[in-house]
Amino acid sequence: MNQKDKNSEKTAPSKSEESTIIPVEENKAVAGKKQQSANETNDSAQETDKQTDAKQNGMEKNNSHSELEKFFLDALQDIYYAEGKIEESLAKIKQKATSEELQEAIEDHELVTKKQILRLEKVFKLLGEEAKKKKCDAIDGILKEVDEMVKSTKDGSMTRDVAIIIGSQKVEHYEIATYGGLVQIAITLGHEKVADLLETTLDEEEETDYLLTEIAEEHVNFEAAEE
Ligand SMILES: [Fe+2]
Ligand SMILES: [Fe+2]
Repeated sequence: MNQKDKNSEKTAPSKSEESTIIPVEENKAVAGKKQQSANETNDSAQETDKQTDAKQNGMEKNNSHSELEKFFLDALQDIYYAEGKIEESLAKIKQKATSEELQEAIEDHELVTKKQILRLEKVFKLLGEEAKKKKCDAIDGILKEVDEMVKSTKDGSMTRDVAIIIGSQKVEHYEIATYGGLVQIAITLGHEKVADLLETTLDEEEETDYLLTEIAEEHVNFEAAEE
């Protein structure tokens, strides 16, 4: 007899056990199922009400009691604060770039960032929440470092552009990590429209990161090496 047969022999109840144990278990299971289906009917009725309300208000389904939902909202407030600070930083830094190409890339990203802020406001609206900012120490720290990196280079030099590119990419990577996670949470929570909006922003951040790499590798780094 193989091991599997031995195990099934051990666990198989005798005829007399079957007649006494199984009906009790079945009764419990039936009672449990009835309770469960009553709960499900209740829950699904409430859920349908919520969804109808949300649809009427143009909002996504929002289970405000879930811990993940609270975490998600908190993270959105964090990136909403961060985008505001990034916009301020881009406005300052674009005047400091030496090459025209980098200046243009920063100006473009400043416009994109303004749109991303409006997009986040749309996300809050879809969730039926007020657009609030929560102080983000990470972005404050990165932007402080970018500022110091730029200040440590000579005005009008290509080395300054190298510093701006590396600094900007630190910001972009922070944003990519944030939006990447937020898109996945939005999908998990069933916020499809919100996930689409956040994914649009994620794509823009990735494009910017790619463009910055291109500018650095095509000429800025080489020209800085000649200084
Ligand atoms: Fe952004
Ligand atoms: Fe960005």
